[in-house]
Amino acid sequence: MLFSFCKLFPLFVSLLVLFLPCIHHSDFPCEVGFVESVDDLVEPNDLMNFTQFSLEYIEKEEIFHNNLFEPRFGGHQTLAEREKSFYARNQTLHCGFVKGPPGYPSTGFDLDEKDKAYMYTCKVVVSSCIFGSFDFLRRPTRRLISDYSKENVCFVMFVDEQTLSKLSSEGNTPDDSGHVGLWKIVIMRNSPYKDMRKTGKVPKFLSHRLFPFSRYSIWLDSKMRLQTDPMLIIEYFLWRTKSEYAISNHYDRHCVWEEVLQNKRLNKYNHTAIDEQFTFYQSDGLTKFDPSDLNTPLPSYVPEGSFIVRAHTPMSNLFSCLWFNEVDRFTSRDQLSFGYTYLKLRRMNPDKPFYLNMFKDCERRALAKLFRHRAVPSSPPAS
Ligand SMILES: *[C@@H]1O[C@H](CO)[C@@H](O)[C@H](O)[C@H]1NC(C)=O
Ligand SMILES: *[C@@H]1O[C@H](CO)[C@@H](O)[C@H](O)[C@H]1NC(C)=O
Ligand SMILES: *[C@@H]1O[C@H](CO)[C@@H](O)[C@H](O)[C@H]1NC(C)=O
Repeated sequence: MLFSFCKLFPLFVSLLVLFLPCIHHSDFPCEVGFVESVDDLVEPNDLMNFTQFSLEYIEKEEIFHNNLFEPRFGGHQTLAEREKSFYARNQTLHCGFVKGPPGYPSTGFDLDEKDKAYMYTCKVVVSSCIFGSFDFLRRPTRRLISDYSKENVCFVMFVDEQTLSKLSSEGNTPDDSGHVGLWKIVIMRNSPYKDMRKTGKVPKFLSHRLFPFSRYSIWLDSKMRLQTDPMLIIEYFLWRTKSEYAISNHYDRHCVWEEVLQNKRLNKYNHTAIDEQFTFYQSDGLTKFDPSDLNTPLPSYVPEGSFIVRAHTPMSNLFSCLWFNEVDRFTSRDQLSFGYTYLKLRRMNPDKPFYLNMFKDCERRALAKLFRHRAVPSSPPAS
């Protein structure tokens, strides 16, 4: 036995070497050619070549049916309003932060006025969130962030009160200016959704609403530690490729059909709700991803959305609102709605380009170190 094992061992090792890259292919970062230093950066002046129109947002709803009205953060968008909202033109649309009539309770995501005042000063933002103590606090690697960015970029971590006390108990108490390391800690009160993962989609998608005067934003899941200067990230993913929105494709799955199966297999969400969403999308023209189609509009219909780089241009902001509205209407599994939202936006605006850069997942891994989520007691799939 021993003898034959020894004889087979080299074969075993060579097989292992052969297959190791496949097994771990998702863990390997790849080479990303950032420029050397932020000192050499110049914002390109042809950015205004992006599609221009003007977006306004519904701030308040006062609709009563038989005196019954439940104000909702995402508002009460009808299907007809939803359809029209996909046109890239001057419009006023639902995009979260919808308030109810006077006297009604807040619809949620309440922030201190002081924090808002700070957020309104931001021109470039890196943001993230921890709600429900789901993650540890990962501080950006200070020595890899330039002095320029330390002075000019806002690093904002949204937390709920529960998370704040958990972090404080672990020694991460904000200083007098509200910072823990580079992160400015901003407390979100009154969660708009019971499902904290859904609440996490508010800062993830709506940075242009939270930071209305910012020109660029980078979203980073709290499971990641930023190890690259944000200005170098903006140069590489947006300026160099003349893009207004950058997101990575999923390392493994490219078709929404697979994503649906995987969500059910891992019991990520209420299966009936997934089916309702998926059936709706198919009836509105969602087709399978075809890797052999050279004209396929995206390298993948399934994103790895833990890292998003955005210029706050009209098309980029519209896409962010539309994607958020899908998450608000259907499930919080945003990988199910990305491809549909993008394809419908393109289909309804064939003459108005949206410069989306869908980059490789291994590039995402080169910018930030990935950690596991905090181990939490297992909870039933959200409804
Ligand atoms: C601006 O966009 C137009 C078409 O949309 C294109 O022809 C032109 O080359 C672009 N200009 C620059 C500087 O990228
Ligand atoms: C769209 O809005 C912009 C800015 O408010 C305005 O200048 C422009 O004329 C509007 N375009 C149309 C077609 O209404
Ligand atoms: C699952 O979703 C369906 C459809 O949205 C809903 O009717 C049902 O109550 C949900 N089930 C649970 C356990 O939340």
